[in-house]
Amino acid sequence: MNNTIGVIGSGAMGSGIAQVAAMAGHPVIIYDNNASALERSRGNLATTLQKLEEKGKIASADALLAQFTFASELSAFATCGLIIEAIVEKLEIKKGVFAEVEKIVSDNCILASNTSSLSITSIAAACRLPSRVLGLHFFNPAPLMALVEVIPAIQTAAHLIPLATELMKKWGKMPVTAKDTPGFIVNRVARPFYGEAIRIYEEGIADIATIDWAMTEVGGFRMGPFTLTDYIGHDVNYVVTETVFQSFFFDPRYKPSFSQKRLLEAGWLGRKTGRGFYDYSAGASSPEPVKDVELAHKIVDRVVAMLINEAVDALHLGVASVADLETAMTRGVNYPKGLLAWCDEWTAAKCLAVLDDLYAVYHEDRYRASALLRKQAMENKNFV
Ligand SMILES: NC(=O)c1ccc[n+]([C@@H]2O[C@H](COP(=O)([O-])OP(=O)(O)OC[C@H]3O[C@@H](n4cnc5c(N)ncnc54)[C@H](O)[C@@H]3O)[C@@H](O)[C@H]2O)c1
Repeated sequence: MNNTIGVIGSGAMGSGIAQVAAMAGHPVIIYDNNASALERSRGNLATTLQKLEEKGKIASADALLAQFTFASELSAFATCGLIIEAIVEKLEIKKGVFAEVEKIVSDNCILASNTSSLSITSIAAACRLPSRVLGLHFFNPAPLMALVEVIPAIQTAAHLIPLATELMKKWGKMPVTAKDTPGFIVNRVARPFYGEAIRIYEEGIADIATIDWAMTEVGGFRMGPFTLTDYIGHDVNYVVTETVFQSFFFDPRYKPSFSQKRLLEAGWLGRKTGRGFYDYSAGASSPEPVKDVELAHKIVDRVVAMLINEAVDALHLGVASVADLETAMTRGVNYPKGLLAWCDEWTAAKCLAVLDDLYAVYHEDRYRASALLRKQAMENKNFV
């Protein structure tokens, strides 16, 4: 593989991925069709690298910056061995850019997309050589988050997966392989962390502060679901949920909520707009949680059972291996434990009982247990 890495899109993800590649020793070419975005990326990277030099993490910011070329024409990519696309999340636009870039690069240049939610197979289908296309899904911020989901499209040449996996390891990342299915691993398995928490709130079982307290203090998660979605931004988090829901042919497990949709409609996008589930304006008081441990356990059991069920079902459907599912959820979203290990700790029978009790009350398909979880409980087996 030629050593030069191309990055298409100089936004949050593109700039972060470019930094990772440069720090791993590659010459990097970043292209964006928006000149001011490209300038912003250059400025931000210079500042970041300067800070890394001051902290002693890199020898010279100037030397590292010299590895970058900021390009306003796609033709700059002619010598790249790998190009990673991180532009706007629109399938038709991505397809157009892939078709254009293919006219410029050599036939052995690998083309990757950092898409969070689109099918890699459909992007590959826009290419003359679809076998060179794969997904490389980094997490935000790319320089700090270790996880990278490596996603073969159905057309991807088999040798590219170990090649990309090894490359990501050289870049200091923890690669996992995920089947080309909606949300890949993390954005699929994590859905109930948000969706079930919002459902508990909508049903009036507990308020947002209490649910957040339960999930952090009793569940051991770093952030509660309402604090976290306010942090991610409801524009991003709601859209991922809606896309996953539609992509799964409207499976009720992934159904979005009206509470979050209304926040989006109101422009209450979270921290960045000063209001989301919580009010961040100056002088606003934070709601106090009801520190009821019994209630907290009910909340945590319900959300964690739903999360475990997602992980087990992803395993059942061959989305990823046990080891990769565990790495993805502990390194991509920093869960306190892998969900399959969590299932073993609880026992599959306990997890199944929580889900079956919910199903008995609601009679909603949302609460159906994975066939593999049921089998695991019957056979009294462990995953890890
Ligand atoms: N932000 C995240 O948390 C996150 C995490 C993982 C993956 N992703 C994915 O990464 C991609 C980029 O996300 P982002 O958050 O960096 O977006 P962003 O809006 O910060 O950056 C996108 C950049 O792409 C540029 N762009 C748009 N259309 C272009 C085109 N046709 N040609 C060249 N440049 C173009 C824009 O000018 C912009 O600078 C998306 O596919 C997104 O789903 C995002």
